[in-house]
Amino acid sequence: MRIDIISIFPEYFAPLDVSLIGKARERGILDVHLHQLRDWTHDVHHTVDDTPYGGGPGMVMKPDPWGEAIDDVLAADPAARPRIVVPTPSGVPFTQKLAMEYAAEPWLLFTPARYEGIDSRVMAEYGSRLRVDEVSIGDYVLAGGEVAVLVMVEAVGRLLPGVLGNARSVADDSFAPGAMENLLEGPVYTKPPRWREREVPEILLSGHHGKIARWRRDEALRRTAKNRPELLAALDPQSLDKHDRRLLEELGFPVSGENMAH
Ligand code: ADE
Repeated sequence: MRIDIISIFPEYFAPLDVSLIGKARERGILDVHLHQLRDWTHDVHHTVDDTPYGGGPGMVMKPDPWGEAIDDVLAADPAARPRIVVPTPSGVPFTQKLAMEYAAEPWLLFTPARYEGIDSRVMAEYGSRLRVDEVSIGDYVLAGGEVAVLVMVEAVGRLLPGVLGNARSVADDSFAPGAMENLLEGPVYTKPPRWREREVPEILLSGHHGKIARWRRDEALRRTAKNRPELLAALDPQSLDKHDRRLLEELGFPVSGENMAH
């Protein structure tokens, strides 16, 4: 997968040299191209922002450097088209589902902004020709989109074939489509079996795979009820067996609806 990132702080992306993503780059699975937005300015001060029309606080990023920068990145491979991802707190939520969608794209172009954001005509211009997504990584405001891009590149990168070691399945992850959709992963343990008087739950040492799977599902349901009760409302009743429903009822989340699995 090719990833282009245009930013006034390309040095923000040094973490992409490290760990899983760094290795994926070394192995050619991920081809990251960083660009300095100011390279597409033409004044001595390399200005990228200006005051907002209509007044108000803060500055808005000028359309001209962004337009020239994006045009040049697009020209790198005229036969292909990247999906453009614009990080902004006003965007659609970044979810595991969107990460999987991005992981299936051959080319992504991220345009992290500083200040109050990019002049909206830039998104309108490219949105008329390409897929442009305005995406938020959460309900809080960062100082700029760079960290949001790091988050998204890591979430997408680990999904690319060959990136995760020993063929670990991502199917058990929290939010993974299928059995874990709308569920959080429960607690995990490793050796030693006893630490500071605390024992690992006995079931995990039993070797009984069926019971362990059931226990893990119970813990996932408990943790979701505790930390993200709103996710339980989004559970597909069809995906819940009798045991799930009994546990959810105990936890104070009775499942309503027909056509439930038995
Ligand atoms: N830029 C500033 N805050 C952001 C957020 N929450 N998500 C994506 N980009 C941002």
